[in-house]
Amino acid sequence: MRLVEVEDYREMSRLAADMVEREVICRENTVLGLATGSSPLGIYRCLAEDFQKGRISFRGVKGFNLDEYVGLERGDEQSFYAYLKKNLVDPTDFCETNLHVLDGMAENLVEACEKYEKELALAGGIDLQLLGIGGDGHIGFNEPCGYFPRVAHETRLDEKTVQDNARFFVSAEAVPKSAVTMGIGTIMRARKILLVVSGASKAGILCRAVTGRVEPCVPASILQFHMDCTVIGDREAMMELRGKGVKIENAEKI
Ligand code: F6R
Repeated sequence: MRLVEVEDYREMSRLAADMVEREVICRENTVLGLATGSSPLGIYRCLAEDFQKGRISFRGVKGFNLDEYVGLERGDEQSFYAYLKKNLVDPTDFCETNLHVLDGMAENLVEACEKYEKELALAGGIDLQLLGIGGDGHIGFNEPCGYFPRVAHETRLDEKTVQDNARFFVSAEAVPKSAVTMGIGTIMRARKILLVVSGASKAGILCRAVTGRVEPCVPASILQFHMDCTVIGDREAMMELRGKGVKIENAEKI
């Protein structure tokens, strides 16, 4: 696992966007695993700006979203589909039909998850998976539990996750209580993983995920076993890791 420290959110987003663009430029029909939420928002903004400046094209790129709330229509502005449409599809030439989103409105969620896994297998798997980390250590919506779920599945959101995500809704009551998410196995099969972490509130869980035991009660800890995982964190997020004397690189070297 490679740890890279940057000054702030802006630098984190720029550096991560450069890594995404490198991937897109190097490989025809790149397959991206797409996270949503606050952490990657700056990355999408950089990608959109670079597209508008003519520096990058997303034509032919495929995207698989990490997760989706159960019970939100695609048109609901809090759905992750709407997030990716607004922040990636609309401001660039990313083709909407190349966006594969777990269907949280499906009558049969098991079948919807199987369909998603099949589409991903057909696309050849993920080249670069973008991730954020939840305050309880979740990646995707794989919440702390007794095992590492392998494939896409329905999951109940932890109370902490509901409270953390209440900021996007009118109240905590309005946050859906379950979601469909890519499994840990699928995330780990991605050829490259890029985790972006910002802010002091994530410093403790990031440190635990990176230096603690690999265990399903801290889902992100599994990333220690990935062969090509980069963590880009800002100063605040890296605070506890720095205190532990872990090897951290500076952005200039990557
Ligand atoms: C979002 C996702 C979640 C978030 C995590 C952190 O698609 O899968 O795991 O990455 O909850 O969210 P933010 O970045 O909003 O702090």
